[in-house]
Amino acid sequence: MIAIDGPGGAGKGSVAAAVADELGWHLLDSGALYRAVGVCARQRGVAEDDATGLVAMVRNLTIRFTPAGVTVDGEVLGDSIRGDEAAATASRVAALAPVRAALLAVQRGLRMPPGLVADGRDMATVVFPDAVVKVFLTASVEERARRRLAQLKQLKQAGPNVSLPRLFESIRERDERDRTRPVAPLVQAPDAVTIDSTSLSIEEVARNVLALAASRQATSTR
Ligand code: DC
Repeated sequence: MIAIDGPGGAGKGSVAAAVADELGWHLLDSGALYRAVGVCARQRGVAEDDATGLVAMVRNLTIRFTPAGVTVDGEVLGDSIRGDEAAATASRVAALAPVRAALLAVQRGLRMPPGLVADGRDMATVVFPDAVVKVFLTASVEERARRRLAQLKQLKQAGPNVSLPRLFESIRERDERDRTRPVAPLVQAPDAVTIDSTSLSIEEVARNVLALAASRQATSTR
């Protein structure tokens, strides 16, 4: 089990996918779960702060990760969950303890042989505290905003309201909310290794994580 946590835009998703691909392991993008819950709540008219309504909705949804993307009750959500608005909504619904509790079993259920690489905010601290490899991936806010803009442009979701200063602000706001919420906040696990990706490529970070995994395996079989 490899757990990668960190703030938005640090490269967790791309690194986790590269590591899972290299090892032939399963992948859990836990942020996509919270994004899916936020998008579905909007579609179904459930208020973002209605914990009871959100939990009832989550219990009735079948969320799956498929090669075509995240599906809810068989319907592909596609890029609708990738925008900045979806990220902010995800961060708000993710602050509600009952919503997090409802998603706990879903996430743990994805842990299957030969292994799982999971990325998010609380993978190493709450969901998989026994992970063999724990990484806390960071990058400067400026670099994260730049990456986010490039990603939104690639997804053709950089509308007229999207600019570097605005992204900078929304990232800072989201970080603050994710770090200060009372339940499962974004914090580094005491036994996690920090990697600052500000001036590293995805491949370089992935290589570091793979080296860490190999060294942990060597230690455990010694
Ligand atoms: O990783 P991401 O940017 O797709 O996550 C979107 C939001 O979901 C993030 O701002 C906070 C929430 N989230 C969370 O609370 N816990 C996780 N394990 C993953 C994401």
